[in-house]
Amino acid sequence: MIVAPSLLAANFAQLQADIETIQAAQWLHLDVMDGHFVPNLSFGPGVIKQLRPHFHGAFDVHLMVSNPGDLLNAYLDAGADAITVHVEVDEPLEPLLKAIKKAGVKAGISLKPGTALTALEPYLEVVDLVLVMSVEPGFGGQAFQPEALTRIEQLKIWRQAHAYDYLISVDGGVDLNNAQALKQAGADVLVAGSTIFKATDRQAVIEALEHAR
Ligand code: DX5
Ligand code: ZN
Repeated sequence: MIVAPSLLAANFAQLQADIETIQAAQWLHLDVMDGHFVPNLSFGPGVIKQLRPHFHGAFDVHLMVSNPGDLLNAYLDAGADAITVHVEVDEPLEPLLKAIKKAGVKAGISLKPGTALTALEPYLEVVDLVLVMSVEPGFGGQAFQPEALTRIEQLKIWRQAHAYDYLISVDGGVDLNNAQALKQAGADVLVAGSTIFKATDRQAVIEALEHAR
């Protein structure tokens, strides 16, 4: 299981120091919010680029923005290893996903809890990552919505049936109580913000999530 601590839950006054505490993780999840697609603002490519040398693992960038194409090159240049866009945006997504892949970066697609899973179908063949939102995107620290489990199961069934090769990631309210069920449903990546950053022993929480089975 890949664990991706979500930087949104870190102390923004000491990001470099907080990143040091989660170096045991394979990925770092970076939530970009534009105050339009979601009612919150976070950080953009400039901050991501400056943080890049301080984490050994992969940068998993989650774009909760209405116009993901506008700054795509800036996120590629910032050192993203995966870039995930939302299926709900108005832009044509296929050219965007192809541009991400062409740059040698994993292309991901995500959806809000209220969006039908079938909306992803046109993109499943091309994507490297499907990010299932298990909370309404915009804020950390919300309660896990268990409907995500059936979505993960369905994505696993589709992957097997069509020989797709995306990773299944889950984002929102992930903790030590639901990690085992998420693993059993078929999640490959657990994004976890508050449950990791509120812990005194963050490395122990990362390892416990990693070994959920
Ligand atoms: C929510 C973000 C999540 C968030 C998860 O819009 O996409 O990545 O940081 O935080 P927790 O784990 O606290 O729910
Ligand atoms: Zn996220």
